[in-house]
Formats: sequence, structure tokens, C-alpha cells
Amino acid sequence: MPRPTLTLTTTLNDREVHVVVEPRTTLLELLRDQLDLVGTKSGCASGDCGACTVQVDGVPMLACLTLAARVDGCSVRTVEGLTGPRGRLLQIFVEHDAAQCGFCTPGLLMQVDHLLRVRPGPLGREEVRTALSGNLCRCTGYEKILDAVVDAATRASEGA
Ligand code: FES
Ligand code: FES
Repeated sequence: MPRPTLTLTTTLNDREVHVVVEPRTTLLELLRDQLDLVGTKSGCASGDCGACTVQVDGVPMLACLTLAARVDGCSVRTVEGLTGPRGRLLQIFVEHDAAQCGFCTPGLLMQVDHLLRVRPGPLGREEVRTALSGNLCRCTGYEKILDAVVDAATRASEGA
């Protein structure tokens, strides 16, 4: 007997896409396995590390815990969709050596991109630390990540 499937329509990185998924397919599986958007990482696959963070209707969500069916009719943005002015964030991470293996970086960028939009203006380190508490990094010790985000917030507030 054929497996049941769902047809979804979603705006993915500003382009409308139509995809067929199984009801149990996660958003992470859809992005990586069906759409080849492998920038979104699979770390723990259980909601603990934040590596799979994407934005759904502008809000950070864990793609490993989100069913693909949930995003039918929604707008999804992945790290591949951080382009134009939003792409400067990655450059600032690079300037601060805020990525080593880089595995956590896409999820962090999606979380930070959201933070900078909902909390414009300079940010303090503790505020950033709290905002990023769901994104784990096993490499950097977090200080360089905090440096990068504080700098990005300052530059954005100065229009630089
Ligand atoms: S892979 Fe989703 S939270 Fe770790
Ligand atoms: S840079 Fe390696 S996990 Fe964060």
C-alpha cells in the first residue's frame, strides 16, 4: 500500500516551493534530504543543541522538532536565505573568529538575525548570552560569539 503523503506550499528563502512529504517528515529532513539545503545542521536531533534553528514566519524554530506539515502556507528562512544586508552577519562572525568547526554557526546566525530585528540597538553581553542560551557551541567558549553579536548590534544601531 502506498504511504500517505502531503503536498505543501511554502515560501522558502523568498521563493514559493511545492513539496510532497510524508506526514512524519520533519522540517529538518525536508530541508536537508529533499531540498538539499544542507546549511541547516543536524546536531542532536532532539531539541537540545539549536544547530537546526531556522525561522518560520520570522520566528526561530528547531527544525528537528518541527513537522514539515507545520510550515504549509508559512514563510521559512534558512541560513542560505541570509543574503544582502542580512548576510553581513556571517562576515562579522568571520571577523571575530566566532566560528571554528562552524557546525553551530548556521543556527546561531538564524537566532542572531532574529534578535537584531526584535531588539534593535546596542546589546549587552549578558542579554546576548541569554538570547543564545539554546544554541550550543562545543568549540569557541562563546566569548568570540558574544564579541561578534555585540559588534553586529552596535554596527546595526549606528547604521554602519
Ligand atoms: S539538531 Fe535540532 S536542536 Fe539539535
Ligand atoms: S564552532 Fe564548532 S560547534 Fe560552534
